[in-house]
Amino acid sequence: MSQKIILSGMQPTNNLHLGNYLGALKNWVNLQKEGAKCLYSVVDLHAITLPQDPDSLRRSTREITAAYIAAGVDPERSIIFPQSAVAGHSQLMWLLATMTQVGKLNRMTQFKDKSGKNAEKSGLGLYAYPVLMAADILIYKATHVPVGEDQKQHLELAREIASTFNHRYGEEFFVPPEPYIMGEATRVMSLRDGTQKMSKSDPSDMSRITLVDSADTIAKKIRKAKTDTEPLPETIEGLKERPEAQNLVAIYAALLDRTSEDILNEIAGKQFSEFKPMLVDVAIAHLEPITKRMAELMGDVSEIDTILRQGAEKANALANPVVKDAMELMGFLNVSQK
Ligand code: TYM
Repeated sequence: MSQKIILSGMQPTNNLHLGNYLGALKNWVNLQKEGAKCLYSVVDLHAITLPQDPDSLRRSTREITAAYIAAGVDPERSIIFPQSAVAGHSQLMWLLATMTQVGKLNRMTQFKDKSGKNAEKSGLGLYAYPVLMAADILIYKATHVPVGEDQKQHLELAREIASTFNHRYGEEFFVPPEPYIMGEATRVMSLRDGTQKMSKSDPSDMSRITLVDSADTIAKKIRKAKTDTEPLPETIEGLKERPEAQNLVAIYAALLDRTSEDILNEIAGKQFSEFKPMLVDVAIAHLEPITKRMAELMGDVSEIDTILRQGAEKANALANPVVKDAMELMGFLNVSQK
């Protein structure tokens, strides 16, 4: 089989939270060990689908890069780059937009969630966002895309767009990418409400643990996390209808790279008053070194900027020929050719 090509990205908006980390970033780090080509982008063009303050965007772009590196993405092995530094993403997006049915975009749940009751007033970029995401992936002919469960629908659309292009131009040019939704915490839920996804946009900071939280803050958030009054069950079945318990067990399991089932064997019968301190210890032991390394990296951003510049060079070298070939297939005249 040909080489696996892994691509994924995160938006530089606010701080990353435990959902971003366990649903995606932690898996990115593990995937580097498989010998695949890995590209991890800071998707700044996606961030501006909602208004961003320019200084905050610059800071977040560096901070997310710092989080990637601190969590274990190795710039020697993986290509880390800002999406906006590879013009081909936007270029390919336009080409793909012409073959994306609006009916399909209308079904995207993320657009519905983000635009809320004000869909008529939201920007075209927010609506077209999944097409840019398809371009991000297809431009590298990525075979696998490690993401949390909430991105599954966007990936399905990327697969469809690839097939439409291939069908229209009579060649297996783009590779329909496979989602890689891995681990025990593919959908981390809010600490305040186990039926809501942990998210950057939740108004309550207590709903999420972020990668910049201090050990004390992590402990406080876990202590105050919503739970029920039952002791922890012996089986996964026993977690059904108990979303908060299920979430905390999944987080604990994912942090330790174990399964919820395995964890329940150890903690069945315990009250939350016993389990929460265990979770606090594991979360702090895991996250504190990442937070510290991030702070060090942010102390001198020149290293981050160098990594992003070198990553962008490598990404451009891969992306540009693909855009050129796609345009040729589509019938654009290449006037720069002798
Ligand atoms: P973003 O920035 O919202 O989230 C980054 C990653 O974190 C995952 N994630 C979660 N996983 C588990 N539980 C949660 N509560 C949770 N919240 C977020 C997301 O699934 C994602 O993997 N559209 C993407 C960014 C993107 C992208 C791409 C991803 C743009 N182009 C190309 C992959 C490939 C997004 O908004 O992610």
